[in-house]
Amino acid sequence: MTAIDILQLITNEVQTCTRCALHTGRARAVPGEGPPTAEVMLIGEGPGYHEDRQGRPFVGPSGQLLDDLLALAGLQRADVFIGNVIKCRPPKNRDPLPDEVATCTQAYLFRQIEALNPKVIVTLGRFSMNLFLPGEKISRIHGQPRIVEGRLIVPMLHPAAALHQPQNRPLLEADFRRLPELLATVEREAPAPAPATPPNDEPPLEQLSLF
Ligand code: URA
Repeated sequence: MTAIDILQLITNEVQTCTRCALHTGRARAVPGEGPPTAEVMLIGEGPGYHEDRQGRPFVGPSGQLLDDLLALAGLQRADVFIGNVIKCRPPKNRDPLPDEVATCTQAYLFRQIEALNPKVIVTLGRFSMNLFLPGEKISRIHGQPRIVEGRLIVPMLHPAAALHQPQNRPLLEADFRRLPELLATVEREAPAPAPATPPNDEPPLEQLSLF
């Protein structure tokens, strides 16, 4: 199956998911969206009111701010894949419970990451950061890239943090402005693809295996 097929399959599964109690209170599940070729994946916490109504990630006030932040990185929504830790809105927007996070990430998010294989994952907020950098404090490490299992993880504040406390906005803006530089680093350090045929000055593989 291609990445497109797998991502579509996961979307279908999320839309009809009944794995945890959150499905009983949702209007629509929010699988996440973006091109299967996206090099940048953003992972938020979970759907809020607007996302639950529309079945799409970051379409409320946090999403409007996210669009502005992406523009600072020279990116548009259509360039990136946007997902969430959990796919259904918790009652009264409460924090996701540990078993909801565990169930939903094992069933969906980690499969989405594997299928997409993004160069960079930007975590938005502490629940998303905790999946990759457990025990860290978002206020301390936001904007600091880390390699986790061979992939660049860039922890950032959740856009809602800037809506609730405007003094956070310059921090988020500065972190997003650095994203192109980080992406370029990954491109430089990515291993060159293996040659399709052995270089001419080396014996063919069959010959090597004789010795
Ligand atoms: N906040 C999130 O974490 N995710 C969304 O999709 C919307 C708001």
